[in-house]
Amino acid sequence: MSDLTGEVVLVTGAARGIGAAIALAAADAGARVGLLDIDADGARALAERIGPAAAWAACDITDQNSVAPAVTALRSDLGPVTGLVNNAGKNAYGDPVAMTVDEWDEVFAVDLKGAWLMSRAVLPDMLAAERGAIVNIASMHATFTCPGMFPYAAAKSGLVGLTRSLALEVGPRGVRVNSVSPGYIETDLLAEYFSLQPPEVRREALDKHILGRLGTPEQVASVVAFLLSESAGFVTGADWAVDGGVSARFA
Ligand SMILES: NC(=O)c1ccc[n+]([C@@H]2O[C@H](COP(=O)([O-])OP(=O)(O)OC[C@H]3O[C@@H](n4cnc5c(N)ncnc54)[C@H](O)[C@@H]3O)[C@@H](O)[C@H]2O)c1
Repeated sequence: MSDLTGEVVLVTGAARGIGAAIALAAADAGARVGLLDIDADGARALAERIGPAAAWAACDITDQNSVAPAVTALRSDLGPVTGLVNNAGKNAYGDPVAMTVDEWDEVFAVDLKGAWLMSRAVLPDMLAAERGAIVNIASMHATFTCPGMFPYAAAKSGLVGLTRSLALEVGPRGVRVNSVSPGYIETDLLAEYFSLQPPEVRREALDKHILGRLGTPEQVASVVAFLLSESAGFVTGADWAVDGGVSARFA
């Protein structure tokens, strides 16, 4: 197991799904964890479950006026931030012609801009300490995608680009930045996706998995905990696939 003793790790979208699993894994590994979500009740419930090592804050990652006070409050509860997981995100099911500019902006605000706003808020602590780790939760859609999810792939590709770009900016000052690209992970978000597809799509998705099964949030969380830890001290600017081998397949 990765060791995060003494680390202060903030996780966005921590109320449920992959974010909740990441928060639990980081706490299990010894970190104090700050849970941020627009779902305040969910974040509070998970913080209570974790206990004194956790604090929570209601936060909309797309709004700098929400990010700043949330990060300040968690910093005062937990101490200077040494780790950040930009996990909050959502699917998009737009049509390239019918989509409005507001709808486009909303996708990029959640799936891309929020990661920069959060990074901007925590980097002063990390740069002052000359150590820190940021992990962005991208997607297999950053590399290959499917019809009907416009423009999710563009936003998640942007998040992998942000990972590389930020890694170059802050690496010389001791901060590592990586991304994780999950495949099909059993969460409410995936259930939402399958509910919008014909019934055979779930079977077809399973058939594409070398391992013959979909992933769990805990299987993403363990890789994120590793990337946050000193065990990954020579890993930066990288995108880690956690997809059961889907991306290794041609067809
Ligand atoms: N589940 C999958 O199969 C899968 C695959 C690839 C990538 N991902 C990515 O993993 C991340 C987590 O996915 P999940 O399946 O756990 O999703 P989820 O919908 O179950 O959970 C997402 C959480 O983010 C929160 N959130 C949404 N918008 C927010 C905002 N503006 N500010 C703060 N919090 C916000 C939600 O309230 C929710 O608690 C997302 O970035 C998603 O794109 C998921």
